[in-house]
Parts: sequence; structure tokens; C-alpha cells
Amino acid sequence: MTIQEKISIMTLEEKASLCSGVDFWHSQPIERLGIPALMLSDGPHGLRKQDDKADHLGVNESIKAVCFPNSCATAASFDRDAVRQIGEAIGDTCQNQQVAVALGPAVNIKRSPLCGRNFEYFSEDPFLAAQLTQSYIRGLQSRHIAASVKHFAANSQEHRRMSSDSVVDERTLREIYFPAFEAAVREGKTKTVMCSYNKLNGTFASQNPWLLTRVLRDEWGFDGYVVSDWGATSDRVKALEAGMDLEMPSSAGENDKKIVEAVRAGLLDEAVLDRAVERILRVHEDYLENARPDTPWDMEAQHALARRVAAECMVLLKNEGGLLPLAEGEDIAVIGLFAKKPRYQGGGSSHINSFRVSSLMDALDGLGGVRYAQGYDIDSEEPDEAMISEAVELARRARSAVIVAGLPDSFESEGYDRSHLRMPACQNELIERVAAVNSRVTVVLYNGSPVEMPWLDRVSAVIEGYLGGQAVGEATRDVLFGLVNPSGRLPESFPMRLEDSSCFLSYGGEGNRAEYREGVFVGYRYYDKKKTQLLFPFGWGLSYTRFAYGALRLDKNSMKDTDTLRVSVDVTNTGSRAGKEVVQLYVADCESSVFRPLRELKGFEKVSLAPGETKTVHFELDKRAFAYWHSELGDWYVESGEFRVQICANSREVLLEAPVRVEGTVRLPVTYTMDSIVVDLMADPRAARIMASLGPLTGALPPAAADEGLQSEVSTAAISPEMMAAMLRYSPLRSLVAFSGGAMSFEDLEKLLALLNSDAGEGEEKA
Ligand code: BGC
Repeated sequence: MTIQEKISIMTLEEKASLCSGVDFWHSQPIERLGIPALMLSDGPHGLRKQDDKADHLGVNESIKAVCFPNSCATAASFDRDAVRQIGEAIGDTCQNQQVAVALGPAVNIKRSPLCGRNFEYFSEDPFLAAQLTQSYIRGLQSRHIAASVKHFAANSQEHRRMSSDSVVDERTLREIYFPAFEAAVREGKTKTVMCSYNKLNGTFASQNPWLLTRVLRDEWGFDGYVVSDWGATSDRVKALEAGMDLEMPSSAGENDKKIVEAVRAGLLDEAVLDRAVERILRVHEDYLENARPDTPWDMEAQHALARRVAAECMVLLKNEGGLLPLAEGEDIAVIGLFAKKPRYQGGGSSHINSFRVSSLMDALDGLGGVRYAQGYDIDSEEPDEAMISEAVELARRARSAVIVAGLPDSFESEGYDRSHLRMPACQNELIERVAAVNSRVTVVLYNGSPVEMPWLDRVSAVIEGYLGGQAVGEATRDVLFGLVNPSGRLPESFPMRLEDSSCFLSYGGEGNRAEYREGVFVGYRYYDKKKTQLLFPFGWGLSYTRFAYGALRLDKNSMKDTDTLRVSVDVTNTGSRAGKEVVQLYVADCESSVFRPLRELKGFEKVSLAPGETKTVHFELDKRAFAYWHSELGDWYVESGEFRVQICANSREVLLEAPVRVEGTVRLPVTYTMDSIVVDLMADPRAARIMASLGPLTGALPPAAADEGLQSEVSTAAISPEMMAAMLRYSPLRSLVAFSGGAMSFEDLEKLLALLNSDAGEGEEKA
């Protein structure tokens, strides 16, 4: 029986029941129609499958599984392939465990370093987030497991997460908060989308027709189903109409009844219900047709993958005097509880019950010269003098010290935000005191989001390990000792102080109202324009080798916005070790009539290079690389002019650049009125030509002419020529009548406006 046929013989009650779960993790079955209950489970860093006691906060145990590096870490890999492999591994796991939908990836933008759930998200940059999102989904769905990209949309805080209203202008949504979801749909072909708890511009995401239907389906072409975040449904009927198909978890039939009543009362078109049922069944049928419960789940192989990827993610932040890599066998003091009990994942719904966890000390087992001191406790922030003294003594006698530190679980989690960027005082003091007795100190950090580093100048090396998954200990060893050459790059800026962050003044909101006042200036887009001093910029990361770039080549230096620009650049490993470089391409708009960031990431490639080897890296840039979202036009828009294509070491450091002139091919719909001002007319070549053709009447209007004509009359006193010129530039057209000394009437002005607004000359390009 086809899905359509099944729907045609379902009762109204049966249809409504299919639009919510039967319990916490399963869809509703209808036995008489051969529709089984299917399981949905978290994601995104491994499988969190709960067998008996269910909850969405990671409270109760789930089955043993493999915990991969969290997204904060995988984003630092800048490695699409690594992320795809994790998706594939989780897909295999789901097949083996008969889970049809894996709830992830979580792709919200890191608006503030305070968001408690940043560890689960990729980046502050929409391009990076979008690229990795589609890789993950492709990997997962290649195994016929549906992804559920979450949390749609503008869910960048945990504070009041179920009631807050994200107030965001459309340009900011389109440029910053939507691209990862858009890529999930357009490129990743995600089969499900999870809507977020929060409201967006006054309407709950779960019942927002603009979000769930206009943008998601009509514009991006989404054809799967939308599932609510667990408990995100407020008005079930409105939600169904808006395009939220499946409510999770079960409302114990309460909301199903409301759907039935609404249809019976003629308040809800039954076709809307049929549509939702069809979408759900279509996605589930795809799983059923491709279910392979005999797929092997090789946990050992997945652990090895988790180790490889974790090492790929580590960011070498500092390496003064080439302290790292350490030599095996040298006397090393390994200090810090995290060296024995690593923090390797975040808390909440993504929490995995790892089948094994490797610590750095486990990984160093058997290596001579290694001694350990705990240094701090995790339950208290207070420095413990005895523990610190023990660590200091150990470090004093050792050739080098490695301190493994970071954030305790309680400092960042789903459900609440951080209130500061500090590490526990006991860890900061430990690092200072150890650094005072040993000049070869490396700090390894395990944390899900940026921290302040008051001790940075006193230590030689720092590795940002993020939350590296269950094999983090082995990966840390691999990087510390140079078995793996670090190649991670920061997927977010590390500010010096919380107060420097772009949304510091309004993050969290007033009551339930969270206004995204900084607009598109999120992360480096803000810091770089403001020239804010940072601990480390977006894209930062060192290597044990060196790279040099050859010439930057553009296949053209002028193009239309409908063309594709091909860019290539040579990169050479000039050091003596094999290594990987992340080639970062940014686009800068040299001049713009709207506020734009200094530069924006529009391409990246990770290349592996043997010593002395050179590779050519290729990029293709299309309209989106140059465009901004034009709210009145309701589309992407390229303003004609010069852009610069920049190859950067990070968002702050331009290595190579080349100009390209891009002509926008879309003419903006403008209507001039009597109140339109001179400067805007002069900026529009067609209008400027018409104005010029009027001759002496408007001779005084262009700034240059105005300056000339007025020079003689203007005394040195209160009114400067600059002021007069400015007054004319910003004068409305209606001033022509007054200034022309009777030469122009309002009737003439109406004719002029008709000419300016006529379509004559339509199709001419903007110069
Ligand atoms: C989280 C989701 C998660 C769901 C199910 C919610 O609290 O926000 O990310 O998938 O619970 O556990």
C-alpha cells in the first residue's frame, strides 16, 4: 500500500496520533496499517539511546556507545572529511541499534562565548558552520539514517531557552543565523529539521509559518518533516498549520485531541494534517526500506576514528621557542586532574555513555620519565595548597611540565549559560605557580568554549583541546609528542575579556526579550572591525612545521555577479615535518552603502603536505561570496564595485590579496519622491544623468558645482563651503522649487519625478 493509500483509509484520530510521539523516543505505530513505531535518539556526538528510563537532559543512563569529539572540537579541524566520517560512524551505529532519526547536528551560531551549549555548536562563522553541517548530514544520511538539524532558529542562548524571544532583523538572520540550516537543506538534503524552543520575532519557532514554511520549504526546498524540540510545542494546531509536523515527545494524546477537534470544528483544514502525516511517513519509509540491523558496530574502530579526529581538532595556540613537540623519555611532570579524568564531552542531551575513556595518563602508561600530580580538585574552585605545592615540587624537578586544565562540567552545560569566562581559580593559580619554577610549561585545555588566560605570558605552550571525545587522552599524547602535527584552527575568536564581546550589552535579553542588537557583527566580524585586542583571533592555529604561499591567482579581475570566480594559490611546506595547513579565503567589500564586516570567510581547504611539498589549492566564488542580504529586495544583492579576495592566516592576518571588480546585475526597485535627497540621486547613474540633463536649473546641486558657485558668497564666518555643500547634498528634491528662484514649479517637479521613476533605461547596469 502506498503512503497515500494508507492516509486515505486512516481515521482522523489515527492521523492526528501520527503527529506526535507514542512515548519519549518513538513515533506512533498503527499496527493495522503496518506502520511501526520508529526510534529517534540524540546525537550529535555519538548515540545516546535510552532503553528504559527516558529523559532529554542526559540524566538517566543510555547504552554504552562511542563519544566522538564534540562539535566545538570538530569545527576546529576545519576538515569536512573528518566530520563526514563521524556522521557515517553514527549512521552505522544507528542502523545497528535500529534508530531511524539521529537528533543532530546542532548548528546554532555562537553569538556569545557565554552560551552554555556552545560546546555542541560549530562556530561563530556561518560559512564554516554551513560547510561542516552539510558534511555531517551527508555522512549520516549515506547510511539512510535521517539527520535532524537543530535548533531552528536563532537559539543562541540557554537562558530562558523555552520562553525567550530572539528579536533579530532579517539581514542578520539570513547572513549569520540561517546559512547552516540553509546548507543542511539545500546541500545536505536533511530529512528532518528540529525547531527550537525560543520565539523568533514574537512567534514560537514551533508555530512560525514564515520560518517553517516560507523560508524552509518554499525558498530552500525542504521536503522532509519538522520535529519539535522536546517540549517546544505551545499551540499544537497553529504549529501544524505553520509546518511543524511531528511533536516530540508524546503529549499523552492531549494535543492529538486538539488537532481532531480543530478539524471537526472546521478550524483546521484536514489537508494540512494529511500533509504532515505524509511527510513523516515518507521519511520513516525511507528508513524502513533501508534498515540494516545487521550493520556491524565496531566500537574499537570507532574509538580509533575518535582518536584520529580528536588529534586533527587540537589547536596549537602558542609554542614559544618550539617547546613542543616533547621528546619521549624526557622527565615530564604531568599535572592536573583532567590528565587522569579528562573532561571530554558536554552535559545534557548530547551526553554519551562512553564504552571507554582514555586519559592522557592512560596514554602515557609505560613511558619513562613521566610523573603525575593532581594539582586541583574539580568540586571546588578554591586553590588547595597541599595539591599545588606537590605539583610545584614535581615541576621543579622535571625538565618540562604539562598541565591539563579547563572547565568543569558545572561551568558549561545545556540548560543555562555561563556568567563569566574564567577558569576555576585553583587552576589559574596552579598554572602561575608551576610556571614560576619551570620555564618549559605546556597548558592543555579541555573546555567547550573560550576562557580567559591570565597566565598566558608565563607559559611556553598552549594546546586548545576542546572537548575531544572519549579518545582525547591518546589524541593529546599524539600531539604533545609530535606523532600528529597539530592542524586545528580556532572556529571562534577568544576575547581578552567578556566585556569585549559584541553582544555583551544585550546578551540574554531583558526578561524574555533577547534583542540581537549587534546585528551581523558577531564574533570576528565585530572584533576585527573594532580592532579589539584579542587573546586569539578566529582561524588562529600553529603547526610544528612552516608553510609559505606562492602567488594568488584569480581567473578574472572583473566579473558579473552571475559569473563564477576561480581562485588558486600555491602552498608549500617549508619545514622539516609533514603537516596540514588550513588555507583560509576571505572576501572584503572595499566600499559599501551598508555596514559590512571587514572581511568574511568564504572558502577554506585543509591540505596535507610533506616537507618541501607544494600543492595548489582551488576555490570557486559565486554571487553569495560577494552579496549581502537586501531586506527590501528580499534577496541576496551584490553592490557593484571593488572587492578583495584575501588569503589569510586567520581573520586578522592577510597573507595575500587581489582585487576583483564585481558588477551587480540586479537593479534595485527605487521610487523617487519629492523627499528623495540629492546625494541618493547622484549615486544612481541613471538618475544622475537625468539630473545633469536639466542643465543650469540643478547646476547648484552636485556637490562640486555647489562648492564652486558658493565659494565667493560664503564668508569665513559661520557657514563654511563644506557645510553648504553638505546641506545641498542632503537636500530633498522639493528644495529645487524654492532654490530655483521660480524657474521650477511643483508641476515641473512632478514631471521630473515621472521621468526619474520611468523604466526608460531599465536594464542599464549600475556603474
Ligand atoms: C534538546 C535537544 C535534544 C532533545 C532530546 C532537548 O532538550 O534541546 O537538542 O535533541 O532534548 O533529548
